[in-house]
Amino acid sequence: MTDPQTSPIKTMKLYIQVERVFNELRELGFAEGDAVPVDTLTRFDQYHYEGTDAVEEAIHKCKINAGHHVLEVGSGIGGPARYMAHKAGCQVTALELQPDLNNIGRYLTERSGLTDLVTHQVGDFLEANPAQQQYDALASWLAFLHIPDRESLFKSCFDHLKPGASLYIEDFSKLAPFTPQEQQDLESKIYCHYVPTPAEYVAQVEAAGFEDVQFDDMSDQWTRFVRGRFDAFQADRERQLRVHGETVVEGLDDFYGTMTSLYEGGNLGGIRLTARKP
Ligand SMILES: C[S@@+](CC[C@H](N)C(=O)[O-])C[C@H]1O[C@@H](n2cnc3c(N)ncnc32)[C@H](O)[C@@H]1O
Repeated sequence: MTDPQTSPIKTMKLYIQVERVFNELRELGFAEGDAVPVDTLTRFDQYHYEGTDAVEEAIHKCKINAGHHVLEVGSGIGGPARYMAHKAGCQVTALELQPDLNNIGRYLTERSGLTDLVTHQVGDFLEANPAQQQYDALASWLAFLHIPDRESLFKSCFDHLKPGASLYIEDFSKLAPFTPQEQQDLESKIYCHYVPTPAEYVAQVEAAGFEDVQFDDMSDQWTRFVRGRFDAFQADRERQLRVHGETVVEGLDDFYGTMTSLYEGGNLGGIRLTARKP
């Protein structure tokens, strides 16, 4: 079996030493194994932009409620899945490619008392078997950027959903051609080999069979978010070094800085898309 720590996706430094969440919990006085409220975890477990506000958007736009079963594709350490379950009372299956992130996600779900609602699965979404059209909604935050085979991706989304179910995606979009440096950074530091324009995105989702495809252009909002995140991280560098050590700090500094340059360059943008399976 390949070592998860050397898998190519680890070139994105957000995914290095993900146990760092436990450093933050220790700082707050939580001992190993202590119960942790979801609202405490949300400060550290949302690997996308605008934290739980973005998850609230999904709950609102997909009208997620306690009777629903939601699939989250690319669930990271489980932040959005736990928050959806906590807020809407829904069942969530959290599917994550990387075993180390998945294990931490499962452990945090146990510690936050949500095992009845949130189920963690490890695997590649493109290899997942949609045995039944079982989900009422499929949500994904900043995971599809790692999956260049969009035809298989959106077919799989379609096949996992019940008729009438909702699709909610937050992802990169291409506003203009990337410079060679941007292309290189996307591939070598973000593990992103393909970014569609908003029009291409809509066409691909429609081609899979979805209807009512709508999107918001998040580019300006996310550019401000990543700038604020980078500045705050740098301003707090001494504290970050004390809590997490040099490897984590250097990695996150590089990752946050790269994302800020990409968005501020104006060629990379962001999209929040919803659609419905007829
Ligand atoms: C930027 S993180 C976002 C995590 C989570 N959605 C969140 O917002 O906190 C994207 C995640 O997608 C996962 N991912 C990428 N490709 C995947 C695939 N083919 N199947 C399942 N997960 C995948 C990555 O391993 C990573 O944890």
